Amino acid sequence: MTDDIDFAAQSPASATPSSADGYVGDPAVRAEWDSRYADRHQLWSGQPNGALVAETAGLAPGRALDVGCGEGADALWLARGGWDVTALEVSSVALERAAGHARDADLTIRWVHAELARAALPPGSFDLVSAQYPALLRSPDGASERALLAAVAPGGVLLLVHHAGMDAEPAREDGFDPDDYVWPSMVVALLDDDWEVQVDEQRARVVPDGGAGAHHTDDVVLRARRLR
Ligand SMILES: C[S@@+](CC[C@H](N)C(=O)[O-])C[C@H]1O[C@@H](n2cnc3c(N)ncnc32)[C@H](O)[C@@H]1O
Repeated sequence: MTDDIDFAAQSPASATPSSADGYVGDPAVRAEWDSRYADRHQLWSGQPNGALVAETAGLAPGRALDVGCGEGADALWLARGGWDVTALEVSSVALERAAGHARDADLTIRWVHAELARAALPPGSFDLVSAQYPALLRSPDGASERALLAAVAPGGVLLLVHHAGMDAEPAREDGFDPDDYVWPSMVVALLDDDWEVQVDEQRARVVPDGGAGAHHTDDVVLRARRLR
């Protein structure tokens, strides 16, 4: 692990299990994603996601949380745009790559090595919570959905983007069951009067050049503002 990953940001006594290197979360989730990243020198395109670029165009930079930051392209893009970025990820392989890219670009980003639902994020403290294709496993208590919402500051924005039109059967044959994951509609179902839905739609994706996700052509985009 690189020395600029800030474990102190996420190690409450209650957040168990916690590994010797500071990771807070299910070791199996970490191992699965580490293995996916380790298979390739670079898994994603290295470009910021199109929906992030489009949906943040009118926002004043503030504190941003990038959930499931992967190799860091979005976090770096936000930091370059003046955002104070915290980036959270389960894979140490991905985080090392992301931190390396930030170091090369001379950008400061706070890295958190944890599962979203177990991270001790300060509640209500991010002006933007961005989760781009975050692959959050569902749980009966909706812990990940609630953690996404809880991180947003009053006046702040949650931007959750996922792949649309996923055909469940072929996906299951590839070992990916869509029913196991959190989708934007599950977050929408939790929104109350404290929230204003600004965008909730399916649209064509800005498909990146290369990277493992380049075959997905459509997005579901949820953008919700926390009013109070
Ligand atoms: C499909 S990738 C997307 C990566 C990045 N957001 C992008 O668009 O390139 C999903 C990412 O979510 C991470 N992840 C999976 N479960 C997570 C969890 N519970 N908390 C935080 N990150 C998680 C994975 O390690 C992986 O990097």
